[in-house]
Amino acid sequence: MESEDQLKQAVAKAAVAHVPDDAVIGVGTGSTVNFFIDELSRIKGRIAGAVASSVASAKRLTERGIALVELNSAGDLPLYVDGADEITRHLYLLKGGGGALTGEKIVAAASRRFLCLGHEAKLVDVLGAFPLPVEVLPMARSYVARELVRLGGRPQLRQGFVSDYGNVILDVHGLSIVDPVELEGRINQIAGVVTNGLFARRPADLVLLAGADGVRTLTPARGAD
Ligand code: 5RP
Repeated sequence: MESEDQLKQAVAKAAVAHVPDDAVIGVGTGSTVNFFIDELSRIKGRIAGAVASSVASAKRLTERGIALVELNSAGDLPLYVDGADEITRHLYLLKGGGGALTGEKIVAAASRRFLCLGHEAKLVDVLGAFPLPVEVLPMARSYVARELVRLGGRPQLRQGFVSDYGNVILDVHGLSIVDPVELEGRINQIAGVVTNGLFARRPADLVLLAGADGVRTLTPARGAD
């Protein structure tokens, strides 16, 4: 049986086939994406560069010799590649376990295509067993936490963590997210929230999912194949 790292490596390898030639692509954050950055470094001659979604990914891209491009000078990107903590068959995602949700959401929004990389354990029927990360301006922490309780969640401050933008993260436990599009918008309306880890208004376009039998493709139209 494959280890989790072997699954992440397998899906990262498969993702390279989706990378267009001579383009600047968006690159997410996390351990799966770290494998993808390593694979990208093998084909760096055929891409123009990468927009990083976080300081951590920018560092790894630079260390691997991949040219960094600022989003502000890149325009729309043809492709964004990122992992997720939970994935549904509609390709709605729960992300932010690594705390880079804000940069990830911006780069995903600026990309025409979002390719999500995962493995079978991340496929769920309903999002929310993984605590939902909410990035919050520090002065609004207590107020936002009270509002999240009103929505039925149990927010916990991520201890010792400061985001790339100087903010804190509340991890919200106990949510069963039946309407991720609605909840994503509702949480983002709370004053002091920067963004939350639901990627439902801009879901993935394609998911590559590694499992014991190899890597399969999920599309929102057809579900699993
Ligand atoms: C980081 C993220 C990651 O994509 C998510 O946490 C999955 O990480 P990993 O690939 O390490 O399992 O959203 O903010």
